[in-house]
Amino acid sequence: MKDANFLKEHNARHLWHPMAHPAEMQANPPDIIVGGEGVTITDVDGHRAVDAVGGLWNVNLGYSCAPVKEAIARQLDRLPYYSIFRGTTNDNVIELAEMLRDFFAPDGLTRAFYTSGGSDSVEVALRLARQYHKVRGEAARVKYLSFKKGYHGTHTLAASVNGNTNFRTQYEPLMPGCFHVPAPYTYRNPFDETDPARLAQRVLAAIEDEIKFQDPSTIAAFIMEPILGAGGVIPPHDSLMPGVRALCDKYGLLLIADEVITAFGRTGSWSGSRHWGVQPDLMTTAKAITNGYFPFGAVMIAEGVAEVFEADTTGKGAIASGYTYSGHPVGAAAAIACLKETERLKVNENAGERGAQLFAGLEALMARHDLIGDVRGGHGLMCAVELVADRATKAPVDKAVIGKVQRVAYEAGAMLRVSGNNIILSPPLVVSAADITTILSALDAGLAAA
Ligand SMILES: Cc1ncc(COP(=O)(O)O)c(C=O)c1O
Repeated sequence: MKDANFLKEHNARHLWHPMAHPAEMQANPPDIIVGGEGVTITDVDGHRAVDAVGGLWNVNLGYSCAPVKEAIARQLDRLPYYSIFRGTTNDNVIELAEMLRDFFAPDGLTRAFYTSGGSDSVEVALRLARQYHKVRGEAARVKYLSFKKGYHGTHTLAASVNGNTNFRTQYEPLMPGCFHVPAPYTYRNPFDETDPARLAQRVLAAIEDEIKFQDPSTIAAFIMEPILGAGGVIPPHDSLMPGVRALCDKYGLLLIADEVITAFGRTGSWSGSRHWGVQPDLMTTAKAITNGYFPFGAVMIAEGVAEVFEADTTGKGAIASGYTYSGHPVGAAAAIACLKETERLKVNENAGERGAQLFAGLEALMARHDLIGDVRGGHGLMCAVELVADRATKAPVDKAVIGKVQRVAYEAGAMLRVSGNNIILSPPLVVSAADITTILSALDAGLAAA
C-alpha cells in the first residue's frame, strides 16, 4: 500500500467517484478506508468505526468471513474464469442454482439467471418480463410501472423505472414506457395521509387507476422494492405488497420484486417478498449474495414464468441477455460459501433482533433531537432518520448540517450514510447489541453537535 501522504495528496484527483460531483470530491476528499475487520472499518489515519452502512447494504456477514475469502482464493487457483454462454458451464453455477432453488422455494422461485450486480439483475428482469409476454403472444405488453422514490440502479432501463429525480434528469431522455405511482411514504405524500393502512389503500387505488389509464394490455410488469431502500427506507403497511400482487394478477402484469438489498435476511425474513407473504414472478438479487466480496447477482425466476420460456418452440424464448461475467466461477464460489454461512448463522434472526434495538434507539433519539423529523424502520436492519430544519414545515435540513452530523458521528465511532436529508443505517447482519449501542451514541453525538 502507498503511504498516507501519497494517498491523501492524490485522493479523488484522477478518479471520479460514483454518485458524487467530481469538484466536490476534490474540495472535500472522501475518507480513505484501508482495512475492515468484523463489523469495523479502519481509515488511512488508523481511525476505527463501526460500519453502520454495511459496505453498501451488502457486507451482511462483516469483513472477516473466512469461508467466503477461502472459497474465492481456492477458486482463483482452480479455475479463475470461464464463460457460461451457450455450450459451456462450470461446476459452481450448477451447485449454486440448486442451493438458490432450495433457498427461494418458499418464494416460488426455481430458476437462476446470473449477473454481475444489482443494476444488471434489474435490467435482465425487466427484459425477461417483456420477453415473457412476447413468447406468450402478448407482444404489446411493453410498459413498466414503479414507485416514485424507488431505486433500481443506474442502467438506462433501470434508471427509467427509478423514482428519484437525481438519478434521472441529467441522463434524459430515458426509456419510453415507464410510469411512476406515489410511494407508500407516510411522512410526505400527495394524499396528505399519515395512516399507513389508509395510505396503502390510496396508493393501491392510484396503481389501479394508472393500470387502467395505460391499458393493462400494454403493461409488462410492476417493479418494486419490498421496502424502499435507497429512497430513504420506507417500509409500507403490510397490506401493500399483497395488494400490488393482487392487482398484477387481476391485470396480467408480472410482479418483479427488486430484492438487491432485501434478499438474504436484511428485513428479518429471508426475503422481502416472504416478509410480506408475497410470491413474485421475478426477483432481482445481488449485493449480499457474495457478502460484497465479489461482484455477482442472480435474477430468480418463478416456475410459471420459467415454463413459458422452456415450453417455447418458436425460438422467441432464447435468452439474448448475458454478461461476460454472468456465472463467474469465482463469484459463484463466493456465493456458495456465503449462502452456507448466511444460513448457518441464521443472520435473519439477528437482523430482526438488532433491528428492533436500532429502531427503538432511533425513536428515543427523536424524542431528544428536534432535528429528526421522521424515524423509519422496524423491519430488520434497515432504518433511516429524516432530518428537518423545522418539524412543522418539514423543510429539509441544509446539506452542511447533515454533513456535520455524519462527520461528528464518524469521529465518535460510527460510519453513517447520508442520502439527501436522510441518514440511512444498514449495518452488517452480524452486529452485536454493543455495536448498535455504539452506532446510536455516535449518532447522538452527531445530532448534538449539529
Ligand atoms: C433495490 C436496488 N436495486 C438495484 C440496485 C443497483 O445495484 P448495483 O449498485 O449493484 O448495480 C440497488 C443498489 O443499491 C438497489 O438498492
